[in-house]
Amino acid sequence: MRNCIRKKILCCINGSFGERFAEVAEANGVTVVKLAPPLGEPISAEGLHDMLSKNPDVEAVALTHNETSVGLINPLRELVAAVKKHDKLIFVDAVSSMGGTEIQVDDLGIDVCFSSSQKCFGVPPGLGIGSVSEHAMTLSATAVNKGWYFDFKVWEEDQKKGRGTPVTPAIPQIAGLNTALKMIERNGGRKWYFDLYKERNQRIRNGIERHGLSTFPRKGSESPTVNCINAPEGVEGGTIYEKMREKGFELAEGYGPLKKRTFRIGNMGYIEMGNINLMLNALGDVISSL
Ligand SMILES: Cc1ncc(COP(=O)(O)O)c(C=O)c1O
Repeated sequence: MRNCIRKKILCCINGSFGERFAEVAEANGVTVVKLAPPLGEPISAEGLHDMLSKNPDVEAVALTHNETSVGLINPLRELVAAVKKHDKLIFVDAVSSMGGTEIQVDDLGIDVCFSSSQKCFGVPPGLGIGSVSEHAMTLSATAVNKGWYFDFKVWEEDQKKGRGTPVTPAIPQIAGLNTALKMIERNGGRKWYFDLYKERNQRIRNGIERHGLSTFPRKGSESPTVNCINAPEGVEGGTIYEKMREKGFELAEGYGPLKKRTFRIGNMGYIEMGNINLMLNALGDVISSL
């Protein structure tokens, strides 16, 4: 935020992590305009185009690619294209999508794309992963009050000198990421990994439907890395979460405004198909015991 933005940003919000992006901007003294469709709806390219036409002074658009809190994936290609038509920067939170689905950062022209070690790469938390465009680097060169720790130019300088990073990095996570990437390569590369995500996610979704449950987001916008599931009528999502926990399965509770109405089943990291089957059987038992 402080490397590239002088005054104003447009934040696309369709869940709690989009809200977080706006909070980060505000905490850095940036004025925020919000594009926030009803929960469960994706950000639309037309809506974004309209907002950018009405707010020509925004410098960048912030987008959460995969909204983990509602289990929804936004149409990245169309949205980045809309932003580029208006010649704005695009920042993408890819925390729960990078590694789980295709993101063609340079082809699309994403200016700042960031993620973390602990989601789709299946490595313990502690490492931020990101990329920065030439344009964003140019803006950083003349930005004032950007601090030191996250100054893109400081990081670039060390990299150019072959020194690695300006601060001591999370070395165990880098070693873990290296191992995870080698494992992906050995098994057939990115396509193999993305297909595995689709397969695991679909298996969970089929199981949910077999148990008479439905997913929260609009059909066609369901996330490939986490399913957000509507709790049955008269039951709180937290009850299902607790009962599954008693059976030894750690799912996730609903998040933010959906905390009571939903629960979530992620498929990020190292998961055996057999364990998905066991989990779905246990879920069936929980649902029929309600
Ligand atoms: C889309 C998204 N953005 C941001 C975050 C925040 O990540 P962290 O907890 O590492 O700060 C999360 C965490 O789940 C997330 O899913």
